[in-house]
Amino acid sequence: MPEDYFGEHVAERYDEDEAEVFDPAVVEPAVDFLVESAGTGAALELGIGTGRIAIPLAQRGVRVHGIDLSEAMVARLRAKPGTEQIGVTIGDFATTTVQGTFSLAYLVFNTIGNLATQDQQVACFQNVASHLEPGGCFVIEVVVPDLQGLPHGETIRPVEVSDRHVGFDEYDVANQGLISHHYYRAEDGSFEKFSGPFRYVWPAELDLMARVAGMTLRERWGGWKREPFTSDSRKAHLDLGKAGRLDNVRYLARDRDAKFTSSFDDVFTTEEATVIRTPVRVPRANAVAERFVRTVRAECTDRILVLTRRHLERVRYVRHYNDERPHRGLQLETPTPNPRAISAPSCQRIRCRDALGGLIHEYWADAA
Ligand SMILES: C[S@@+](CC[C@H](N)C(=O)[O-])C[C@H]1O[C@@H](n2cnc3c(N)ncnc32)[C@H](O)[C@@H]1O
Repeated sequence: MPEDYFGEHVAERYDEDEAEVFDPAVVEPAVDFLVESAGTGAALELGIGTGRIAIPLAQRGVRVHGIDLSEAMVARLRAKPGTEQIGVTIGDFATTTVQGTFSLAYLVFNTIGNLATQDQQVACFQNVASHLEPGGCFVIEVVVPDLQGLPHGETIRPVEVSDRHVGFDEYDVANQGLISHHYYRAEDGSFEKFSGPFRYVWPAELDLMARVAGMTLRERWGGWKREPFTSDSRKAHLDLGKAGRLDNVRYLARDRDAKFTSSFDDVFTTEEATVIRTPVRVPRANAVAERFVRTVRAECTDRILVLTRRHLERVRYVRHYNDERPHRGLQLETPTPNPRAISAPSCQRIRCRDALGGLIHEYWADAA
């Protein structure tokens, strides 16, 4: 488990120290964006903290679940009214799994940088992808690293210098890391120090992490109100959609028509599906496949909601089709020769057995 840098001493004054980002003018555009992204589905917040975003999002009718490492931060969330309906799991958001799937996962306020290695950040994307519904999206808010402001050879950039807070970031450019140092003035005038390690990331690297995890960039903005992202943007809001449409496709069978170009096949092979072409000079192969698909639809899937390939195997339609179903085009024989098939005039007693939960009746010569 990564180290928890948001213990009691940070949690007890987090909302006060970060008052600027609790301002409704900051929170509301973010919540508007996230409500729209969630649609009618549920949302998963990584690093839910004291509920700055999760609480107003839940108040807008979105079911929210959060993951956070810090019990102290979550205790602050729980102390706020109306948070009972927000589920929280304590754990590392790079690896922790929670029940259910989500139409939206989001990671705001530069919290991706709290994962201090590239491996952890990639694992986080993969964890998100495994929680998203097909078509769902992962929204990240991240600061654009301020390297333009760092003169060559220097390592320190100020964050805030005020009476109550002095903060600066110490860059380790070679390792794409920074340590954020903060000194807060206590009531007695002394300063308390807080330092935490971060790994800063560029939007382009996040795009690549998304691809590693089976997602693709859908939108990139310079702010929650969909401000354009430009060379001057200080923040990037990325909407990384899950490439969900081909998630469950393993094979594509197609004929050899020239309209199927190699780029058509590429769409499937890049999604790790295998393209199977019908055999050469066997025109009947395509017709047989199409006939099977039509029959399976008419006799089975039009009437039964079949959810997965395993489910289809369990309803036994393929066995019924090949071993038990008399085919008119085969003189009422089954494709697989069946010694127990009934030849009409010679049969003695016939038994009836139901298949597909009674959708189909199978008739058999009684063995007795
Ligand atoms: C900067 S705060 C953001 C909190 C909240 N999202 C907000 O916008 O106010 C970062 C939060 O992420 C949590 N966090 C940091 N690294 C984490 C990790 N690896 N797994 C789970 N939570 C983590 C911290 O405990 C903290 O609550």
